[in-house]
Amino acid sequence: MRTVTLPDGETVPAMGLGTWHMGERLGDHDREARALSRGLDLGMTVIDTAEMYGRGGAERVVSKAIEGRRDEVFIISKVLPHNASRHGTIEACEKSLKRMGIETIDLYLLHWQGRYSLTDTVAAFQELKRTGKIRHWGVSNFDTDEMEALSGSPDGNKCQTNQVLYNLSRRGVEWDLLPWCASHMMPVMAYSPLEQGRLASEEALKTIASAKGVTALQLALAWCLQRDGVMVIPKASHLEHVEQNRVAGDIELEVEEIRALDCAFPPPTGKRSLEIL
Ligand SMILES: NC(=O)c1ccc[n+]([C@@H]2O[C@H](COP(=O)([O-])OP(=O)(O)OC[C@H]3O[C@@H](n4cnc5c(N)ncnc54)[C@H](OP(=O)(O)O)[C@@H]3O)[C@@H](O)[C@H]2O)c1
Repeated sequence: MRTVTLPDGETVPAMGLGTWHMGERLGDHDREARALSRGLDLGMTVIDTAEMYGRGGAERVVSKAIEGRRDEVFIISKVLPHNASRHGTIEACEKSLKRMGIETIDLYLLHWQGRYSLTDTVAAFQELKRTGKIRHWGVSNFDTDEMEALSGSPDGNKCQTNQVLYNLSRRGVEWDLLPWCASHMMPVMAYSPLEQGRLASEEALKTIASAKGVTALQLALAWCLQRDGVMVIPKASHLEHVEQNRVAGDIELEVEEIRALDCAFPPPTGKRSLEIL
C-alpha cells in the first residue's frame, strides 16, 4: 500500500475508506460496518467520516467497525461550518467522540468554510489538540486563495491536509491547488475519487481498463494514486467493492495509458474554481 506523509511527519496509507451516506438507515449499519471492517483487514486503515453524514449515523457505524481495534485505525471526522465557532467546534468534537466511542480523533477537518472566522476555528482546533481530543487538524473544500489566507493566519501553518473533490473528470485542482499543497508538503485527500460511481460508465475509461484487465473504477483509483502526495477515500458499502478498490492500490499505470487518459479527460489549461459535491 502506498503512503502519504502529513506535514507533522505521520505516515498513513494512501487509500482509506469513505462513509458518506452510511448510517442513514439503521437496518444497513451492520453491513456497512462489515464493509469498513473488511477495508481495515486489507490495510485501508484510514476512515473518513463527518458529523454531517447520516446526522451522526456514519460515526455510529464507524464505532461498530472499529470495535476492539481502535489502535489500528486513523480516524478523520469533520465539523460542520455552522458549528465551527470557538466553542461550537469543541462541542461538536466532543459529540463526535461520544458517537464513535473513542478518546481522540486523529485528524479533524473543517468541512467547508462558513460564516465563522478561521481564526476562531483554528484556535478551537489548537485547544482540542492541547486537551488530547484531536491529534491533527485540517480543512476541506478550500481553494488556493483560501489556503493562502489560512496559512497567513495565526497557527494556520499547522494545517495537515485539504480534502477536495478530485478524480479523472474533476481535474481543475491540478492547475494551482495541488502544486500549492505540494509546495507546502501537505497531502491532498481526494474525495469522490470514483465520481460517486459515475466514472463506471465512461466509455474511454472502460476501454482502457478492459485492455488492462481491470475495471473502470479500479483504473480511476489507480490514476489518482499515481500522483505523489494524493490519497483517496473511496466509499464502498459492499464487500466486493472494498476488495476491488484495495486491488486498485497495487495497479501501476503505463505511460501510454496515462496519455490515453489525458486525451479522454484533459488536464486544466487555466484556473478553474474549486468544484464541490
Ligand atoms: N469533504 C467533503 O466535502 C466530501 C464530499 C464528498 C465525499 N467526501 C468523502 O469522500 C468519500 C468518497 O466519496 P463519495 O462517497 O462521494 O463517492 P465515491 O467514493 O467516488 O463513490 C462511492 C460510490 O461508488 C460505489 N463503489 C465504490 N467502489 C466501487 C467498486 N469497486 N465498483 C463499483 N462501485 C463502487 C459505491 O457503492 P457501494 O457503497 O454500494 O459499495 C458508492 O455508490 C465519502 O464517502 C466521504 O467520506 C467528502
